[in-house]
Amino acid sequence: MKLGVNIDHIAVLREARRINDPDPLQALGICARAGADQITIHLREDRRHIHDEDAAAILRHSPLPVNLECAVSEEIIDFVCRHRPLRATIVPEKREEVTTEGGLAVTGESTRLAEVIRRLHAAEVEVSLFIDPHPDAVLAAKELGADWIEFHTGHYANLHAMLYSNLRHTHHSIPALELPRKELNERLSEELAQIERLADHAHGLHLRVAAGHGLNYQNVAPIAKIRTVEELNIGQSIIARSVFVGLDAAIREMKSLL
Ligand code: PXP
Repeated sequence: MKLGVNIDHIAVLREARRINDPDPLQALGICARAGADQITIHLREDRRHIHDEDAAAILRHSPLPVNLECAVSEEIIDFVCRHRPLRATIVPEKREEVTTEGGLAVTGESTRLAEVIRRLHAAEVEVSLFIDPHPDAVLAAKELGADWIEFHTGHYANLHAMLYSNLRHTHHSIPALELPRKELNERLSEELAQIERLADHAHGLHLRVAAGHGLNYQNVAPIAKIRTVEELNIGQSIIARSVFVGLDAAIREMKSLL
C-alpha cells in the first residue's frame, strides 16, 4: 500500500499568520526519508493554503511523484498543464467548504470533465477522479477515460468516528447520525464492504484505485487491507500527529499501519 502525504496543512499553519513559516517545501525531504511514496497537494481556487509558488516549487524540487488535486476550473487546469505533475486528481470544490466534502458529480458533468481529461492527457498528466464509492461513479470514470479513481472515504471515517471516538461529525456534508451503536456498526461494515467491492470492480475495469479523506491512525487498517486499493492519500491526521511527534515519526507510524 502506497502512502501519499497531503502537505496542505503545513501551508494552513503558515497562512494562520500570513508569513513564510512553516514552508511546505521543507517537508519534501522529510516525507521521502520517512518512506512516503508521494506528495499530494491541493491548489484551491481560493488559494487558502497552497499558493501557485508553493505548487511550482514543490513540483520542481520534489524527490517523490506529485499528485496535484484540482477543481474543474479553466485557470487551475491551465496551471496543471503548464507544470505537469505526474497526476492530477480532479476534486469538487466549493468556496465555503472547510474541506472537500464529497466526491465529484461525474455523471452530471461529463462533457466538461471529458474535455478537462483530454487536455490533461495531452499534457501527459495522469488523471484521477475523486468519487464517492458508488457504482455509477466508477462506470462514469471508466467511460470518461480516467486512469485512476480515488474513493472518498469521508463517510467511512465519519461512521468510524461516531462509533469509536464519540465524534458527531467530521465534515459538513454528512449529517451526524443519531443511531444506536448496532446500526452504526452495520453501516460501517456496509460502507467498508462497498468500498472493497467497488475497488475490485474498478480494478477489473483496469482503473487504478486510490482512497482518501478522513483516514487516520485509528481507522486506516481495514481500508489498507483492501488488495485492489493501491494508494492512500492522507493529510490532516499525519500533520496533526506531527505537531506532537514530528513529521518523520508521524509518517513512519502511518507507514507501519499500512
Ligand atoms: N484525497 C483527496 C482527494 C482530498 O481532497 C483530501 C483532502 O484534501 C485528502 C485525500 C486528504 O484528506 P485528509 O486531510 O482528511 O486526510
